[in-house]
Amino acid sequence: SAQDVAAGEKSFAKCRACHQVGETAKNTIGPVLNGLFGRQSGAVEGYAYSPANKNAGITWDDASFADYIKDPRAKMPGTKMVFAGIKNDTEIADLTAYLKQFAAD
Ligand code: HEM
Repeated sequence: SAQDVAAGEKSFAKCRACHQVGETAKNTIGPVLNGLFGRQSGAVEGYAYSPANKNAGITWDDASFADYIKDPRAKMPGTKMVFAGIKNDTEIADLTAYLKQFAAD
């Protein structure tokens, strides 16, 4: 099915307690998610990652993000991101479309 940015924005409500996106985004509990797709894991300047995230060696793309977000603590053992994950492939695709709107700073 086509990716749905509006549905992705609703899904991002699950992330907002810890992550910001957009022009005024700041690192908070989690790193800023602007420019996520195409960058290396653990690369946001000024954010204090766990060693697990810092050294994960992932390039964030559609496939690696989908794999990770289904079960973050299983896919990145030792991460300090405490989040159960999103299991539904359509929701993940919509969330991906939403996040891709926000380029790197
Ligand atoms: C890290 C996405 C929900 C806290 C990350 C990373 C991604 C991500 C992609 C790795 C970033 C990087 O390598 O630069 C998401 C998405 C969420 C979500 C899409 C919602 C669907 C949450 C929630 C929390 C959280 C609810 C807090 C309860 C964190 C923290 C890190 C992180 C603390 C850094 C982990 C570490 O250094 O080990 N998140 N996240 N995230 N996230 Fe989330």
